[in-house]
Amino acid sequence: MEYEGYVDIHSHIIPGVDDGSQSFEESIDMLNIAYEQGVRTMYATPHYGSGKEKYDRELLLDRFEKLKEKALDVGEEGIELILGNEVYYHHDTVELLDKKEIFTMGGSRYVLMEFAYGISYNELYRSLQRVVNAGYVPILAHIERYYCLYRKFSEIASLRDMGIGLQINADSVIAKLSSEASFCRKLIRNGYIHFLASDCHRVGWRPPVMKDGYSALEKKTPQEYLDRLMKVNPDILRNNRFL
Ligand SMILES: [Fe+2]
Repeated sequence: MEYEGYVDIHSHIIPGVDDGSQSFEESIDMLNIAYEQGVRTMYATPHYGSGKEKYDRELLLDRFEKLKEKALDVGEEGIELILGNEVYYHHDTVELLDKKEIFTMGGSRYVLMEFAYGISYNELYRSLQRVVNAGYVPILAHIERYYCLYRKFSEIASLRDMGIGLQINADSVIAKLSSEASFCRKLIRNGYIHFLASDCHRVGWRPPVMKDGYSALEKKTPQEYLDRLMKVNPDILRNNRFL
């Protein structure tokens, strides 16, 4: 299978709709960084329901379409943008998904989701199961941030067995001496994780460091495995197949 580059499935690249990019200029600067980092496809996943978003739907769609066009001119090959949301789970999330109020990942069955970081494991499991039962496949964003999952390999395996996607942020694997980074690298090496993504917000705040994440993992992780995180699994998502 041939791939054009990395796929970044988590970004706050649309300007002025959440706590991510604040202008078209900043979005273009971020896209240029992403391009240099090897990204050729990026999912724009503005926050939904976390209280940080200020946009209305029309404004969001309008800015997305404009940026999507500009992204094609970035670098020699351009970056393809695909729309999604990062949904902060609430009891009405499934209803909003069914009404298509929330954008799934490129219109697929996949939904990028986040929760309160202090959530209990049981509540997290039950909420994800509810979304699965409704016919969607949640991708749990930055799983390294949840206290109930920190160093809990069997709990993480149970989530994986539910059939959902698990995502780690690229910048979380980079720091050499951090115990969080070594926990993340261990999870990846042992096959728990489906996606490495940037969760980029601003040029100066968590920029899209996909290549840097790849390099931090390269030494101890087989190439085939890294491709799975940044190319193969995103391709499965895109084709709406199961992980
Ligand atoms: Fe995010």
